[in-house]
Amino acid sequence: MNSSHTSGRTALVTGTSSGFGLLTAVTLAGKGYQVIATMRDLSRKNELLSQAEQAGVHKQIHLMTMDVTDSVSVQSAVASITEAYGRIDVLVNNAGFAVGGFIEEVSMEEWRRQMETNFFGLVAVTKAVLPVMREQREGLIINVSSVSGLSGFPGYGPYAASKWAVEGFSESLRQEMSPFGVRVVLVEPGSFRTPIWEKGIGGIQVNEASPYKEKLEEVLRYSRRTAETAPDPRQVADLIGRITAISAPKLRYPVGKGSRMLMIGKALLPWKMLERIIARGLKGAN
Ligand SMILES: NC(=O)c1ccc[n+]([C@@H]2O[C@H](COP(=O)([O-])OP(=O)(O)OC[C@H]3O[C@@H](n4cnc5c(N)ncnc54)[C@H](OP(=O)(O)O)[C@@H]3O)[C@@H](O)[C@H]2O)c1
Repeated sequence: MNSSHTSGRTALVTGTSSGFGLLTAVTLAGKGYQVIATMRDLSRKNELLSQAEQAGVHKQIHLMTMDVTDSVSVQSAVASITEAYGRIDVLVNNAGFAVGGFIEEVSMEEWRRQMETNFFGLVAVTKAVLPVMREQREGLIINVSSVSGLSGFPGYGPYAASKWAVEGFSESLRQEMSPFGVRVVLVEPGSFRTPIWEKGIGGIQVNEASPYKEKLEEVLRYSRRTAETAPDPRQVADLIGRITAISAPKLRYPVGKGSRMLMIGKALLPWKMLERIIARGLKGAN
């Protein structure tokens, strides 16, 4: 779709202070959308503004505060957008973070914090936007899931559970909204070079007395190595940009080598064999 088809169209993106959200905001602005770039802390806006300026699209980026875990913040942001623009054409539910650790050792508080942002936050933003899209009888919702939404890995229980919840939610939502012309898509990235690992799993302190110590160290070594060699996150923003131009998109878009291989592996191999491959991959990081 060239920008003449998108001018006057609006895209709401959550979590645009860094990573995929930031790049997606710039990419969609480049495609002609008026992008409402939301973040929970507007003091983190400078990187987005400087990248938008460099790309020559800063006039199409409109900053707004939104913490997806705060229902007042979600409601008031969506109300301001509809008042100012009258419509929301694309919603990219991107905000998220990763809680890791072995299941027994992750506190219930951390479990809840993970679900509050990655799942209930996404549900809250979607529910706020649905009446607008339903009445327009048109819209596109892109939910950023993960390779962890396709398969649970050891040491990633909370993150996997939150992304599996996003996957099931998106399957239901897609079928409920298709009669209203609202399309729902899952983007499932493998590992990409964004700040997510430093903010979450990278900061885990290993408890020397833990019965899971060695296994957790294995997972952390694997994650560190993968994060260091991970590809450019622009691939994900570009994919999201391309999806906005598809009139009848698929449900799932795995992106990155890990996700695509896992998708094929799950279709072809018995689960026991996949488990062995995952265990071998983790050991290989030693
Ligand atoms: N990078 C990967 O390898 C990878 C792979 C698969 C899926 N993903 C998914 O991609 C999405 C984006 O992650 P990323 O890799 O781009 O990481 P990132 O650079 O850390 O970006 C995450 C964004 O979400 C925001 N956020 C966190 N909690 C929020 C809240 N309560 N309300 C509003 N915004 C909030 C962060 O804001 P702050 O700056 O304030 O923290 C940040 O803007 C996440 O859903 C993640 O699970 C990432």
